[in-house]
This record gives sequence, C-alpha cells and structure tokens, in this order.
Amino acid sequence: MPLAEVQSARTVSPAARVAGELAVPGDKSIAHRALMLATLAQGESWVHGLPEGEDVLATVACLRALGADLQRSGRTARIRGAGLSSFATPRGSLDCANSGTTMRLLLGVLAGSSISATLDGDASLRRRPMARIIDPLKSMGARIDSQEGRAPLAVRGTLLQGRRHALPVPSAQVKSALLLAGLSANGPTTVVEPVATRDHTERLLRAMGTDVGATVDGLVIRPSHQPLRPIELAVPGDFSSAAFWMTAAALRPGWSVIIGDVGLNPTRTAFLTLLRSMGAEVKVDGPSADIEPRGLLTVTGRGLRAIVLGAADVAATIDEIPAILVLATQADGITTINGASELRVKESDRIATMADGLRRMGAIVEERPDGVSIQGRAALHGATVESHGDHRVAMALAVAALVASGPTTIEDADCVAVSYPNFFAQLQDLTHES
Ligand code: S3P
Repeated sequence: MPLAEVQSARTVSPAARVAGELAVPGDKSIAHRALMLATLAQGESWVHGLPEGEDVLATVACLRALGADLQRSGRTARIRGAGLSSFATPRGSLDCANSGTTMRLLLGVLAGSSISATLDGDASLRRRPMARIIDPLKSMGARIDSQEGRAPLAVRGTLLQGRRHALPVPSAQVKSALLLAGLSANGPTTVVEPVATRDHTERLLRAMGTDVGATVDGLVIRPSHQPLRPIELAVPGDFSSAAFWMTAAALRPGWSVIIGDVGLNPTRTAFLTLLRSMGAEVKVDGPSADIEPRGLLTVTGRGLRAIVLGAADVAATIDEIPAILVLATQADGITTINGASELRVKESDRIATMADGLRRMGAIVEERPDGVSIQGRAALHGATVESHGDHRVAMALAVAALVASGPTTIEDADCVAVSYPNFFAQLQDLTHES
C-alpha cells in the first residue's frame, strides 16, 4: 500500500479505489465535556468510547491535576465526582497542550471555583484568541490574567454573577464555558448565539439534571442547589473525523465508505447536506434516540459540483472546511466560502495552510481575508506539503493525495495524534491499488 514513513513525514500514494467499512475514534467534543461534567457531579460516572487522541488526554491530565478521581482503562473512564468544591489548587500550570476546548471550557469551570490555577498550552494554543472567553467571564466577576488576551491564563476562582451574553462570533467553546461558569453563578446566565453551534454541553447538562434550555431571550442556565447527577455515557464516533473518510469516498464515482456508530447530533451533521448538494450519495441509518444520537453512514462518490457557502454554513461545518476544500478541487465549477474568518484562528490559519498545501498540489485557490475560492476540477499532482502542526490540515491533505497523480509527502504528519492517532493505518486499510 501507498504509505511510507520518514521521521514524522508521511507519504501517501494515489489510490486506484477507496472502499471499506470502518469505525472512527470517539467524539472529542463530547468526551471533553462528559469528563469535565462527571467531575462536577456527585457520585460515580462512567464514560465509554473515549478517543485516545492527545486533546482528550490533556483534559484527563488537567482534571487529575485538579484532584479529580478519574480512573481510565483503555477507552473507558470511571470518575468519582465530588463537585466543584472538591477541586484542589494544582501544582504547576495545567497543560492544555493543543486543545482549545480544554482551555476554554476549564476556564469557565474554574472561574467560579474557590481555587487558583494557570492554564497553558503549546505554541499553537498560545497564539489563539482567549479574549472572547475572558471578557464575558470578567463581566460575571471572574478574575483572570492573560498575556494580552492569550494564554497562559491565570484564574483566581471567585463567586460569579449570572449575566446575559450576546456572543459576537458563533463558538460552542465560548457558549459552553459560559454555561459551565453559569452552573456555579448567582442567578441565571443567558447566552445568545449569532448562529446555533454544537449543543453537546446542553444535552449533557440536561441529562445530569440541570435547568438549561432555549427561551425567547436565549439559552438560559439556572444554577441548581442540587448537585449534578452522575452519568453513564457511551461516546459515539467523531463526525468530524468521519468527514475525512466521507470526503475520500466522494472524490471519485464508485468509491464508497461505510462508517459505523458515528455521532449524528443535528448540530454537527450539516456536512452531510453539503456533500449531497455537491453530488455525493449519502445514506444515513439512524439516528438513535440517545443523549447523543448515533448511526451508520454510507457515502458513495457520484461526481462533484461546486457549491457556495456563507457564514452560517461555515459555523455549522467549522471543523469540516478543510475536507470541503479538498472536495472543491474535484468539483466542477468554483466553490466559494465566505464568512470564514474564524478559520484563521483554529489550530492553524486554515485558510492559509490549506491554500498553501492545495496550491503545492496544483489546485487553483484564491484567498481572501474572510474566505477562499477554489476552481475545480484540478488535476492534482504529488508534492511535498506541510501540516503546519494542524491535525485537520494533515488529514485533509492526505485525503487529497489519494487523487493526485504521484506520491504526496505530508511533513509533520504526526500531529494527527491530536484527534486521530490511527488515521494513517485506517487510510491504508481503505485505499486499494486496483
Ligand atoms: C469545539 C468547538 C469549535 C470546534 C472545535 C471544538 C467544541 O470551536 O472548531 O474543534 O468542542 O466546542 P469554536 O467554539 O472555536 O468554534
């Protein structure tokens, strides 16, 4: 098969065919939240199907450093929660590694605690904007010091006051951090989103007995005098990881993948609609009626046409945009993505890093401050491309390499371990030479 390893570079050869059935790692957004909320509950929780990526390991390590009783065995964790008041001031700073979700959600939790802590991360996380979470938390009374709106963030927990927050950018991380702060605040906390984002926090909070829900005024959480109830949760497969395999299948007519037990939370699956409007065949078996719905997806390539995405589409497919850019190179016409400036503050500047990689492979890409256009169909050729340390860029370019005319080397490809340590092994299993 078409793979070779040189240090952390990976070489992917063109595929004659993509076909197969697979399962993807557990959803990291859900896993972070389930672990954090379980430590805030009173009693024993079980979380199954945890992903083994570095982001979720960072959350596990931070929670343990805060004194949580969290035993992990493979993909299952048992958490003996004892509430926010059981948190202890950690020794040294909390290392959130590359994980924005860990940093932003934990800041929301700790702002209303009675301890002090410093949240830090890798070079990429230190570059990412934190004022979007610091400012609304400060309006609730939080005491946070930052490096001009960036990590490291030093928080001294204090009693917070519930507030109404109208968010200027759609962000599930910011929404979730404010809901978590609202859990321990005085009075209700309201969050108004410009566009609805993933609702994993709300679903879990409700399942654990919290009064949180949509009102005419926005999403309102009321602090409860009862402790959170523990949960037993099986984390479904990560839809955003599955998107890479759906993309691989959609690139050529007749290529096909079946992905079992994927999360089908409707706030995460807008990519399926876009895939269909680009021409791919998408079959959904499910969803089940769990706290987090799940089901089986079958995607078959049928030829692709260009689409136009606006800000609401971008918010609904925020982690799938690198994959959509790959599809755009093989779609007839010009795919245009507008209202996408948030992509510039992800693990890398994903407009710039994807444009760089796809251009090196022969794609015609026009970059704008808040968007990007790709002229399809391009005859991609093999090249040496950079992940820029961004797991989703590495995976998207690896999928693009399947339809290039020669081998493509992805530098610094090990960063896929942030969300998908097994990615290249599964790529090998799915691709066939004849
Ligand atoms: C996430 C929210 C999104 C997403 C990220 C995970 C979450 O980030 O891009 O990968 O788990 O809440 P933003 O809140 O910054 O949009």
